[in-house]
Amino acid sequence: MQVIHTIAQLRQWRQGVERVAFVPTMGNLHEGHLTLVREARKRADTVVVSVFVNRLQFVQGEDYEQYPRTLASDSDKLIKEGVDVLFAPTESELYPAGQQQYQVMPSDLQNELCGQFRSGHFVGVATVVTKLFNIVKPDVACFGKKDYQQLAIIQAMVRELNMDIQIVPVEICRAEDGLALSSRNAYLSTQERRQVPQLYAQLRQMVQAIQQGNRQYQYLEDEAVKQLSALGWQVDYVSIRHVCTLKPAQIQDKDLVILVAARLGTTRLIDNVEVYI
Ligand code: PAF
Repeated sequence: MQVIHTIAQLRQWRQGVERVAFVPTMGNLHEGHLTLVREARKRADTVVVSVFVNRLQFVQGEDYEQYPRTLASDSDKLIKEGVDVLFAPTESELYPAGQQQYQVMPSDLQNELCGQFRSGHFVGVATVVTKLFNIVKPDVACFGKKDYQQLAIIQAMVRELNMDIQIVPVEICRAEDGLALSSRNAYLSTQERRQVPQLYAQLRQMVQAIQQGNRQYQYLEDEAVKQLSALGWQVDYVSIRHVCTLKPAQIQDKDLVILVAARLGTTRLIDNVEVYI
């Protein structure tokens, strides 16, 4: 595996390569990322993974400084997966002027769900993903469904800006007790780690209610907030949406996704589950 740190070197390497599948990450790789890498491998002979902790997508007061940076062990994992190139630019390589003057502005969806609590986050994501796409020039790029809103925003960006890249959504990777894998799970205390499966259990309970014919979506959302709060969670939102538009679910909708964001102690977790009626 080649480890490349500069845009110039990556571009030079790219000249000789045909089809590329790409997995952008912020590093601290776990099984969820490796699932993305395996999906990428199915879609092209050459796989590029980027590791870059993107300051632009962290809102003030978030964990940018604290975010785990584990390039050496990430690199070992990617070698085992047979990845061709690890692209790990420095901050000054990607943002040489310090500030990024030109930014990518997603649709109003950026202000809903997580956007309500992380103002500007999706501008940072869309901007860095566009930059990485312009550098790596992938044919295919894999994104996890764990970050469902991010995935929807990237899909819309690629569609509306006519980027010639196929976006592949990849299923959530869960621990045995249901917890969706995330780099931020490392922040949980032992006690919190025992408690977190409650989040997915709540989602499963809502799925069951919907599948049994309950269409009182507002009631289901409110109940979920109540139950999680009673268990000690600080809930940002529980929302039932249409899978494609991410608009609030209407009674006639058949393809739904339930999204949740909640804090346990100081750790903010997100999760979601699709429901097809
Ligand atoms: O999902 C992530 O890890 C990040 O948001 C991404 C897509 C790598 C952009 O920094």
